[in-house]
Amino acid sequence: MSKTENIIELEVESIGFEGISIAKKNGKVYFVKGGLPGDVVVANANKKLKGYIEASIQKIITPSQHRIEPVCNYYGACGGCSWQCLNYEQQLFWKEKHIIDAHNRLGNVNANCYHKIIPAKQKFHYRNKMDFSFSAARWLTKKEIEKDEAHNKHFALGLHIPGKFDKVLDIKDCKIQDIEWNNILNIIRDKAIKLGVQPIRLNKTGGGFLKGFTLRKSVLTNETMCILITSNLNNDDEKVFINWYKNDLQKMFPKLVSVVWAVNNKNGVNVGETQFINGKEYLTEQVLGINYQISPFSFFQTNSYQLDSFIGLIIDAADIKNTDTIWDLYCGTGSITLSVAKKCKKIFGIELNSQAIEDAKKNAKFNNIDNVEFYSSDLHSPKIPDLLNTLTHPDVLILDPPRSGLHNNLIKHILEIRPKKIIYVSCNPATQARDLSVLTDSYNLLNVYPIDMFPHSYHIENVAELEWK
Ligand SMILES: C[S@@+](CC[C@H](N)C(=O)[O-])C[C@H]1O[C@@H](n2cnc3c(N)ncnc32)[C@H](O)[C@@H]1O
Repeated sequence: MSKTENIIELEVESIGFEGISIAKKNGKVYFVKGGLPGDVVVANANKKLKGYIEASIQKIITPSQHRIEPVCNYYGACGGCSWQCLNYEQQLFWKEKHIIDAHNRLGNVNANCYHKIIPAKQKFHYRNKMDFSFSAARWLTKKEIEKDEAHNKHFALGLHIPGKFDKVLDIKDCKIQDIEWNNILNIIRDKAIKLGVQPIRLNKTGGGFLKGFTLRKSVLTNETMCILITSNLNNDDEKVFINWYKNDLQKMFPKLVSVVWAVNNKNGVNVGETQFINGKEYLTEQVLGINYQISPFSFFQTNSYQLDSFIGLIIDAADIKNTDTIWDLYCGTGSITLSVAKKCKKIFGIELNSQAIEDAKKNAKFNNIDNVEFYSSDLHSPKIPDLLNTLTHPDVLILDPPRSGLHNNLIKHILEIRPKKIIYVSCNPATQARDLSVLTDSYNLLNVYPIDMFPHSYHIENVAELEWK
């Protein structure tokens, strides 16, 4: 194809899996990055792939009636909130549709079991954790280039550009984090630049000191924890920076109750070995009356505002009785397990990550919950029945696997032990649909409850209720 042949007018028809916008013309399928259903665009059809052609928008001729102005300066460059240009009602419409479409491909599901999606209570500033990266290779947005201002291209503190591991977008104002965190980010960046402290070089040359910066929040107490990850201290400027970070940062931000420094000399930028914690060792968050200790590196669901509704949904769907024994598989730090424990006779939580299990046990103790047992184990191992067979048979099975879904070994075992009820929680409709296609040979899919935990992204959380046939 010549260059001019690549230029094509397209009307975007729908949004498919993982937020990909789709247009069709002359029997060909186009994936139009950034397009919305109803947009008529001039696009550059630049890459022919198996079954579709990738196209990038050159100009929007007629915008979709659902298109709105994104509020974020980094929209289009940052991979975080790719649906900020779509009004919220339509975001919910497409999230619901993606679940129904994925499940429909199974063939044997009951169309009446799909409930209306539960919208997010807070649409912006909802995240209780952000992981930022430093880099000596800053990515400039189109807007930044057009402004023609002088930019320090060798220092960035922000978010990685999708698909470019070494380039970081310098973020000064993120709309989904706590408003005050923007000031913390900006002060950290200014101080490091002033002292000449170097961010890491993520290319082959390597080197540099500053690696990652994580911010965490408790919505219950409105307190913040920050975690700086670096390589080993090498020079006096770095020592001055770390002393300032330890002793002075907190004075500017009264809500900053915990200042953590950790060192990681390997690749990872958001985990490390703790060197000091100035202030509180952990934040405390509350879900349905249960208190959770959140230490610097422990996992916790990222939208606290939505957690009561999310976990309440699971509890209601499970219809738990005080005589029930429950298994919570892939239990993480026990945010579902401990709330359910209050309603049932006995609950077992199983999870691969041993640190998460330690946190879950601590949180059980912290809340005086004694009808729960936690185990750290690989649920995908062929040996998993050895552990599961030692536990009391479950009346209800709760599953909350990672995006890759359930492993065949586990599905096989579930079908052997036949719990009466299964609550399958998922953040990936495609793998959930794949697993349901096996489980629904023996189980009826009774209800599906989608809930929006991540406004402005295509991500969706979904609770499916199944009952033995
Ligand atoms: C979606 S998260 C579940 C979070 C949990 N329900 C909570 O609220 O804290 C999925 C969990 O599966 C765990 N996981 C991943 N692979 C696993 C495996 N093979 N065996 C057991 N757990 C696994 C991850 O460590 C993660 O905690």
